Amino acid sequence: MKTSDRSWAPASWRNSEARQLPTYPDAAALAAVEGELSSYPPLVFAGEARVLEAQLADVAAGKAFLLQGGDCAESFAEFHPNHIRDTFRVLLQMAVVLTFASRMPVVKVGRLAGQFAKPRSTDMEELNGVSLPSYRGDIINDITFESAAREPNPQRMLRAYMQSAATLNLLRAFAQGGFANLHQVHKWNLDFVGRSPWAEKYKDVADRIGDALAFMEACGISPETVPQLKGTDFYTSHEALLLGYEQAMTRQDSLTGRWYDTSAHMLWVGDRTRFEGSAHIEFLRGVGNPLGLKAGPSLQPDTLIRLIDTLNPDNVPGRITIISRFGHDKVEAGLPPLVRAVKREGRHVVWSCDPMHGNTIKSGSGYKTRPFDRILAEVRGFFAVHRAEGTHAGGIHAEMTGQNVTECTGGAMAITDEALADRYHTHCDPRLNAGQSLELAFLLAECIKAEVDLAARNQAA
Ligand code: PEP
Ligand code: CO
Repeated sequence: MKTSDRSWAPASWRNSEARQLPTYPDAAALAAVEGELSSYPPLVFAGEARVLEAQLADVAAGKAFLLQGGDCAESFAEFHPNHIRDTFRVLLQMAVVLTFASRMPVVKVGRLAGQFAKPRSTDMEELNGVSLPSYRGDIINDITFESAAREPNPQRMLRAYMQSAATLNLLRAFAQGGFANLHQVHKWNLDFVGRSPWAEKYKDVADRIGDALAFMEACGISPETVPQLKGTDFYTSHEALLLGYEQAMTRQDSLTGRWYDTSAHMLWVGDRTRFEGSAHIEFLRGVGNPLGLKAGPSLQPDTLIRLIDTLNPDNVPGRITIISRFGHDKVEAGLPPLVRAVKREGRHVVWSCDPMHGNTIKSGSGYKTRPFDRILAEVRGFFAVHRAEGTHAGGIHAEMTGQNVTECTGGAMAITDEALADRYHTHCDPRLNAGQSLELAFLLAECIKAEVDLAARNQAA
């Protein structure tokens, strides 16, 4: 029997092998919280998820680009309007640069408003001879290295829901209320370029965006006359890891009768939980949201095809985004077999590059970090593979923040191993700071421009 023929229910994942889920000490307390959550309002509307899927179908067809970014792990401690604002602002700034370079719409998806649960490489953490359960994200337990703090507590799901709701409310206000005005975003970019040690490299693109805006204005196209320039579409996403929470947020859409996980517009399955037959794959195959699938070096091409068929039996474009995360030294050998298999089998997917998770190292000063050069190298490798295979390098998936943190080494400000201690705030993986994120966008702009020019030459020939 094909998986797609088997019946599905929001709870059917409970009969499959689940990795990375906490064991709660009090099953009754857990059930009470899940019951309560299932009566709360949905955070997103199914119709929005369908619009996002249609936009991602354009990405799959090579007619748009996906920008997905935000925190590795949101936290209760860092819940502050300025943090939300600053991350959103940097994403908008990146999107303007990418739109200009690609001459395509950029689909903006935050790792925000629900990105709370983390898969871990070990169940236990050791410190000074003491062993405690690993921190699994604020929706599950507390990062403090104390026995009571590390105990999974279902009440945290309610707090994560409330924080997600408030975050999403602010994001919706920013996206439509005037904050995302294109002229304003361009001014922020000019300010960034003016302060960057690499200003010379970026000035040309920034000046040309300015010229384009001035030209449009002269033609009467301004935020005052064209409302699209005043606002933008913005979507949310997170890893669908904590399945009890995701199940509680799953509702039947009254318009179509389909099930949607209303905790976010888009959900992805992590590299550690996307094995065949997993509880996470079982859960996601039944929800109508667009899905991401993390693809690392251990994923075999035939497994990938079977996973795609389980998640998307009707081969609907825009439903599946493959987020590759090989590492700078593995992408050029590891990605082509996956791309070829998907192309050969005629499956419609978005190819997106996560240049973060394959490039994490321990710095000399002891911090987990990611050298900016390796992040850029993986992005270049990703574009090179797609150029060679004739497929669309469709997106980027980044862990980043609008704050001026020091978590990834390198970049224009040349953050050193020693400087990591200055502002290392992440609850999990090291993130690009605001400046590094924009530097990444300008590099992407070069890569995308090369792809666009090549396509134009091929069309002319
Ligand atoms: C993540 O995106 O935060 C993550 C844990 O990624 P991966 O599953 O690719 O390791
Ligand atoms: Co991470």
